[in-house]
Amino acid sequence: GSGDVAAGEKEFNKCKSCHMIVADDGTEIVKGGRTGPNLYGIIGRKAGSVEGFNYGDSLVAAGEKGLVWDEASFVAYVQDPAAFLKEYTGDSGARSKMSFKLRKGMEDVYSYLVSVGPQ
Ligand code: HEM
Repeated sequence: GSGDVAAGEKEFNKCKSCHMIVADDGTEIVKGGRTGPNLYGIIGRKAGSVEGFNYGDSLVAAGEKGLVWDEASFVAYVQDPAAFLKEYTGDSGARSKMSFKLRKGMEDVYSYLVSVGPQ
C-alpha cells in the first residue's frame, strides 16, 4: 500500500472501540471492542467472512458477489460503508451495520492492517 504504517496505527484508535486485532494463535495485537469483527488478516479476505461474527445481510451479499478486501475496496468502504455496499451490490436498499465513516488516512490504516496481518 501507499500509506504510512505509523500514521495508520494512530488512526486505528478510531476503530478499536469496535474492532480488535487478534492473531489466529490468540496474540492480541490490538485489544478492542466486539461490535465489529476481528480485523486480523482482513486484507485479502472475502468480505463478511470472519467466523462467528453476525454480519448484516448486505455485507454478506457483497462477499457472495465476489468482494475481497484490497486497497481500493477497503479505502472506499471505510469512507462510507452504506454507500459502498449500495454501489457494490447494486441494491439501493443495502444497509451497513458499520455506521462509522473514516474521512482521512484510509490508505494509512490499510497499510497498517497489512503490516500486522499474516505474512
Ligand atoms: C465491518 C474497518 C470503525 C463497526 C468492518 C469491515 C471493515 C471495517 C474492513 C468489514 C469486515 C469484514 O468484511 O469482515 C473499520 C475501520 C475502522 C472501523 C478501518 C476505523 C477506521 C468501526 C467503528 C465501528 C465499526 C468505530 C462501531 C461503531 C463495524 C461493524 C461491522 C464492521 C458492526 C460489520 C458491518 C456489517 O455487518 O454490515 N469494519 N471499521 N467499525 N465495522 Fe468497522
